[in-house]
Amino acid sequence: MKRSEINEAIKISKDLLERNNFRLPAFAYWTINEWEQNKDKIATIVRVMQGWDITDFGSGRFKEVGAVLFTIRNGDIKNNGIGTPYAEKIIILQHEKGQKIPMHCHRIKTEDIINRGGGVMCIQLFGSNQEGKLDNYVNVEVFMDGIKYCFKAGETIDIQPGCSITLSTYIYHAFWAKKGAGDLIVGEVSSINDDKTDNFFVEQARRFSSIEEDEAILHPLVNDYDKL
Ligand SMILES: [Fe+2]
Repeated sequence: MKRSEINEAIKISKDLLERNNFRLPAFAYWTINEWEQNKDKIATIVRVMQGWDITDFGSGRFKEVGAVLFTIRNGDIKNNGIGTPYAEKIIILQHEKGQKIPMHCHRIKTEDIINRGGGVMCIQLFGSNQEGKLDNYVNVEVFMDGIKYCFKAGETIDIQPGCSITLSTYIYHAFWAKKGAGDLIVGEVSSINDDKTDNFFVEQARRFSSIEEDEAILHPLVNDYDKL
């Protein structure tokens, strides 16, 4: 992705969150200079990868396959003394082209995916077979806000503002902003999240994009921290 595209996506996201009265922690708004000034305080932020995370999953089509994520809190799966024993993210998906997080599952993380407002969230579900691969036939049982539902393999569900779905490990899911329903704010509340090791995509996808530097960094991404 180009840095200019990343900066633009951050601006759109900050604006959407502002309009919905959702404020991020102070470090979300730090300039590069402020990161520099605070560099002796950010060991945990860097270690558990709190912060901006913008990716097109290697698609080259960010507005269709991509997301702006911000990890608000997280822990370290290998060291329970670092960070928190849980994680929270906010995810912004643009509705114009039905921007999507591609089909994947987690083997460690259980997550609640929540429609926090702005639009309608569509989510498609599959179970997995004994090898942990996507299963095209088995029904999927999930809880949505504490109530159990059973869906057919590949079924797509609309999730309205305020409502959520709990995804256990090995449930394959893709979700997107419904076209015409507005840009979407998604919340994620989960067990500790390790994005380097616990995302299993059905199709070839890269969790973090490589970046072409065509303008100055507005805010660093979690995958920029080693350059700070
Ligand atoms: Fe997920």
